[in-house]
Amino acid sequence: MNVSKKFWKNKKVFVTGHTGFKGSWLTIILKLLGAKVYGYALNPISNPNFFDNVKLTKLLEKDYRQNIQDLKNLKNAIKKTKPSIVIHLAAQSSVFVSYSDPVDTVQSNVIGTMNLLEAIKSEKSIKAGIIVTTDKVYKNLEKKKKFKENEPLGGHDVYSGSKAASEIIFHSYQKSFFQNLNCNLSTVRSGNCIGGGDWTEDRIMKDCAEKLIQNKKLLIRSPNATRPWQHVIEPLIGYLILAEKMYKNKNYSSSWNFGPNLKNNLKVIDLVNFSKKILKSKSKIKLVKNNLYESTNLALNSDKSLKYLKWKTILTAKEAIKFSLDWYKFYSQIKSKEKMIEFSKKQIQKYLYLLKRKV
Ligand SMILES: NC(=O)c1ccc[n+]([C@@H]2O[C@H](COP(=O)([O-])OP(=O)(O)OC[C@H]3O[C@@H](n4cnc5c(N)ncnc54)[C@H](O)[C@@H]3O)[C@@H](O)[C@H]2O)c1
Repeated sequence: MNVSKKFWKNKKVFVTGHTGFKGSWLTIILKLLGAKVYGYALNPISNPNFFDNVKLTKLLEKDYRQNIQDLKNLKNAIKKTKPSIVIHLAAQSSVFVSYSDPVDTVQSNVIGTMNLLEAIKSEKSIKAGIIVTTDKVYKNLEKKKKFKENEPLGGHDVYSGSKAASEIIFHSYQKSFFQNLNCNLSTVRSGNCIGGGDWTEDRIMKDCAEKLIQNKKLLIRSPNATRPWQHVIEPLIGYLILAEKMYKNKNYSSSWNFGPNLKNNLKVIDLVNFSKKILKSKSKIKLVKNNLYESTNLALNSDKSLKYLKWKTILTAKEAIKFSLDWYKFYSQIKSKEKMIEFSKKQIQKYLYLLKRKV
């Protein structure tokens, strides 16, 4: 299934975390579809960053720079906006930061999600909402399992635990308050997303792009960790397909995996070597010891999305890596960074074209 321009045209969409990596891409996709986007987030955490460097603020109807931990502000922003759809991305999104700042991680990810649910509950205009969690919400016993949506939740590190806790709070809110409201909500869990414009610390694609383009030494941890790599556009399109379905039909209100085709599972070292090859880089690769726990095997079973939403991954891991490196390479070559909006739009259009051909 593809996204419907007819559906999204002029829809008011309230996006939390719009200044982040996924939020920046989502803003551009929604604008391409003709939606009106209202953003609510803190300032971008990295410098450089996609949102400010590329001046995405001009695509927004309103750019709230506020904390989701502040219920009053969040409620006011939603009340003023009267959106029909909410997409919640705002979170402390790093496993590593969750070791150094567990308190903020829990406050942003658990209390922040609860605040958002409170705000949604109090605004009648909202017909559908997507709460973005992660593939790390599952209790992972490292048994090379492909997690289905109904598997037990867990979390070794505080990031994973906070996201699993936000899922539990979500399900309690749904049962307690949303059964009789005309507002359908789901949680969504994607794989490790890659794509241009991610400058978050400790993300391998960004490290590859930065170092390999400049032929600098690249340090990598966990070379043999296998991850379900997917281009960021893929799950975002899945979220939009789901939001459209939920807008019209309560039965879609649930939890959904949007992981890549399992053939897309690649070891970190394979991703690095492939990136090095396509950038024709002379960088040296150095392995560094990782003292923090990180899961080695993580794979999602997305049969439910495939069956009921007709959503599927269409880019191979190598195509997704190439899309990402093309973005960073173009970014490094141009002076006027605003040109990245057009470049990103072209990548989205190319993706939508491929999607149309493959469904
Ligand atoms: N990037 C991935 O590979 C990936 C994979 C699975 C799930 N996710 C989830 O997707 C969402 C977006 O991820 P991302 O990679 O774009 O993260 P990111 O770190 O790039 O962006 C996070 C966004 O949340 C905002 N934010 C953080 N704390 C906030 C707070 N207290 N109040 C208001 N805004 C706050 C930031 O300002 C930013 O806009 C997150 O919920 C993340 O957990 C990401």
